[in-house]
Amino acid sequence: APAPARGLIEPPTLTAIQRAADLLRAGDIVGMPTETVYGLGADALNPEAVARIFAAKGRPADHPLIVHLPDASHMTRWASSIPKEAIALARAFWPGPLTLILKREAGVPDEVTGGQDTVGLRVPSHSIALALLQVFDSGIAAPSANRFGRISPTTAAHVQEELGDKVAMVLDGGACAVGIESTILDFSRDTPEILRPGAITADDIARIIGRRPRVRGEADAGSAAAPKAGPDENTPRVSGALAAHYAPATPLKMLAAAQLVEEAATLAGEGSRVAVLAHSVADPHDARFIWHAASADVAAYGHDLYASLRELDASGADFILLEGLPADDAWRAIADRLGRAVVGSGADQDET
Ligand code: TXA
Ligand code: MG
Repeated sequence: APAPARGLIEPPTLTAIQRAADLLRAGDIVGMPTETVYGLGADALNPEAVARIFAAKGRPADHPLIVHLPDASHMTRWASSIPKEAIALARAFWPGPLTLILKREAGVPDEVTGGQDTVGLRVPSHSIALALLQVFDSGIAAPSANRFGRISPTTAAHVQEELGDKVAMVLDGGACAVGIESTILDFSRDTPEILRPGAITADDIARIIGRRPRVRGEADAGSAAAPKAGPDENTPRVSGALAAHYAPATPLKMLAAAQLVEEAATLAGEGSRVAVLAHSVADPHDARFIWHAASADVAAYGHDLYASLRELDASGADFILLEGLPADDAWRAIADRLGRAVVGSGADQDET
């Protein structure tokens, strides 16, 4: 029989999951759901397969990848030393949206770690991801399944849009429940540090380990503040920490609630088409605006965020205006992603 066409979205039957595991064993790459965003998976122990991820994404090869594991018992094959606090956090939050950066075991390929002495590990909670990991029974290296610098995919259709037939197949796991990438917590130095905020917050972590982790760029975090530029040479490379990331092609602006409608009207008055993403300001029902009502609930806002940005980016608007976000810890991850989207928006997409 002829081989199935590449890049097809497949319902997550047991047959499809087994085929995905076979494709991974053969060194191919597959789109897979997780509870955060869709991943572009490869056998983490196969350097050639991992190289295909970088080629498909157009991502610089020195950016490390997260290794997804079937369960915490696999940790010792990937990490050489596991602090007690990391074990406590794995117990508390795995399967779930928390990535632990630990000293790596010798056999972990440099292609996965970006040549660093650490490795990022996570057990995802999506049932299809777990089923695939259990059938595969080893680590799956998977970055978000978007082209480098673009919005992360939260549906199987997004993965197809981003990567087309570069992937062997896309396992369809529906819309991702969390919608933004995992919290990354670095345990490779004395004080644990959040390198990338996510649904599991600094307070959540403090409740388990009894001390609050450092949070990279904490002083700058806030409703309308853009994040600082990428990490310096002495800190681990985190591509999600580049200031310009998760970016739509349409220019984005973040505004306080009180200025939102006024600015939209000004831009419309100058002949621009304006799209607005607002969670507390009511739709003024002005026919000149493409108005997108976001939820004021942080989990629901995160769930919809990337799909909304994709939709607004495709709406033909000249500008996307975003209502600024609350400044509390629970909104930090979303404020972080929107801040980066603002910095990166409107760029020539061929350069990312
Ligand atoms: O939720 C998620 O984490 C998703 C899903 C698919 O699991 N994955 C994801 O992968 O967001 P990616 O590659 O788009 O982002 C992972 C981030 C990158 O910024 C990478 O640099 C960082 O994790 N990272 C991975 N290993 C690292 C390490 N050893 N040290 C420092 N940063 C690391
Ligand atoms: Mg990513």
